[in-house]
Amino acid sequence: MEAIRIENICKLFSQKQVLNDICIEIEKGEIFGLLGPSGAGKTTLIHIITGQLAPDSGKSYILGKNSLKLSHDDYTHIGLVLDQEGLYTRLSCYDNLALFASIYQLDKAKIEKVLKQVHLYDDRKKTVSELSKGMRQRLVLARAIMHEPQILFLDEPTSGLDPATTLKIHNLLLELKDKGTAIFLTTHNMEEAAKLCHRVALLHEGKIIECDSPVTICERHNDLNKVIITTKDHQKYILNNNRESAQHIYQLFQSENIQSIHSSEPTLGNVFISLTGKELG
Ligand SMILES: Nc1ncnc2c1ncn2[C@@H]1O[C@H](COP(=O)(O)OP(=O)(O)O)[C@@H](O)[C@H]1O
Ligand SMILES: [Mg+2]
Repeated sequence: MEAIRIENICKLFSQKQVLNDICIEIEKGEIFGLLGPSGAGKTTLIHIITGQLAPDSGKSYILGKNSLKLSHDDYTHIGLVLDQEGLYTRLSCYDNLALFASIYQLDKAKIEKVLKQVHLYDDRKKTVSELSKGMRQRLVLARAIMHEPQILFLDEPTSGLDPATTLKIHNLLLELKDKGTAIFLTTHNMEEAAKLCHRVALLHEGKIIECDSPVTICERHNDLNKVIITTKDHQKYILNNNRESAQHIYQLFQSENIQSIHSSEPTLGNVFISLTGKELG
């Protein structure tokens, strides 16, 4: 059974078709990235999958259960990082998690464990109002993973965070994935998507216009199909990626003068711009 199954989801907001026939399946242990510019409908789709919003048509399932029929018990399998809402600013990190632990009837030992996982253990006595944005985000993440959910939803988890915090979050997500957690994340950070995600989907004007591994998408859009060689004396050769170039490349190797060799496939960001005509963000 898939972790998440989305079948023909459509959603209109005041006659605007925000989601148009979206179909996605996500396996356990997979990190899936939904990419799209602001207003594309990413958060709306998370709301629908997690049963917080009804679609106009189509169905979605979490661990085989219809999203609109999820019980309290089903929610124990889901972790959600939507925004930084819901933290009690006058309570400490520890007490915020303790409150959540009591709702979910979790062992207190889980609080310390998760504080260490998100690198907030030394700051556990600080109140939320004393935390930086990156620390708050890690606390929200701690709350979302403390009950060891099988599926984790993250809506732009590293947006606006510094590179060190972003790296900590990335490493944690990779660890969770290795333990079999299915992770559904939205981002407009293409490097993040390329680094973390097994598959990404590009959402544009309500439709998914590409869905595959980042490498496959970039290769598919390698229209130039060139090999770019730079020599130690800063000459740049842009050669066709075929046998015509064999002799030339052979000579460059012979001369032991090669600094770098690159193929011409675009970055995920460039593919996105060429498909949508829009920058992300
Ligand atoms: N509750 C709502 N009522 C009306 N329009 C909404 C509502 N929620 C989102 N929208 C609209 O739907 C579109 C997609 O929004 P959203 O899912 O938040 O996009 P994203 O998360 O990709 O930035 C936007 O045009 C937004 O204004
Ligand atoms: Mg959003």
